[in-house]
Amino acid sequence: MEGKKVIITGVPGVGKTTVVNEALKKLQEEGIGYKSINFGTFMFEVARNDKVVENRDQMRTLDRAVQKRLQQRAAQAIAQVSGNVLIDTHASVKTPKGYLAGLPEWVLRELMPDIIVLVETDDDQILMRRLSDDTRSRDKEGARSIAEHQQFNRSMAAAYAMMTGCTIRIITNADFLLERSSTELADVLR
Ligand code: AP5
Repeated sequence: MEGKKVIITGVPGVGKTTVVNEALKKLQEEGIGYKSINFGTFMFEVARNDKVVENRDQMRTLDRAVQKRLQQRAAQAIAQVSGNVLIDTHASVKTPKGYLAGLPEWVLRELMPDIIVLVETDDDQILMRRLSDDTRSRDKEGARSIAEHQQFNRSMAAAYAMMTGCTIRIITNADFLLERSSTELADVLR
């Protein structure tokens, strides 16, 4: 049987990976399995083999054509995965030359999601999470710029729904309320 394909998005540092891990733990206890895939990791494997980057945060500064090629190769590889699949990625990527669609037509055609989830929270909470994470090389931007990115992602999600017929679900991952956001995501995935 065909599985469910769910794409999870949100600006860097909003807590996508944290919410996904918690939700999958809940489902595992009920015997519901999902393959959890990080789109950026697939892109990074290709980029590192091609020797165009040394760390994943450099990918968004690559030439647009190179990012497009990496996107395409990642989408083709992920499309081969069968069963219930959860793909952690971005509705849009902030590059030095402007927003790049994370799920353009050539990616959506491969993935054809059932649901796209947008994880959001207050802009200043995201700013604080980024500032306290020294394992990554995060872009330096203020709360207003993060707000613009979250707003832009909603517009992109609307376009993706028009292209594929998928539904869009918005989940708020507020400080100290991880239990609530992961429960909401588990409900979406069931
Ligand atoms: P990716 O690997 O997705 O990196 P990212 O965007 O930086 O996302 P993270 O996984 O680091 O952040 P997160 O939102 O998952 O937050 P986390 O759970 O860690 O992408 C890497 C790169 O790949 C991109 O920059 C791009 O170049 C490329 N890429 C990917 N997809 C692409 C696409 N489709 N097209 C083109 N390029 C693409 O949490 C952050 C912190 O918050 C943690 O410290 C956590 O403990 C804390 N936290 C989380 N939830 C809570 C809470 N409720 N309360 C308090 N603290 C919390």
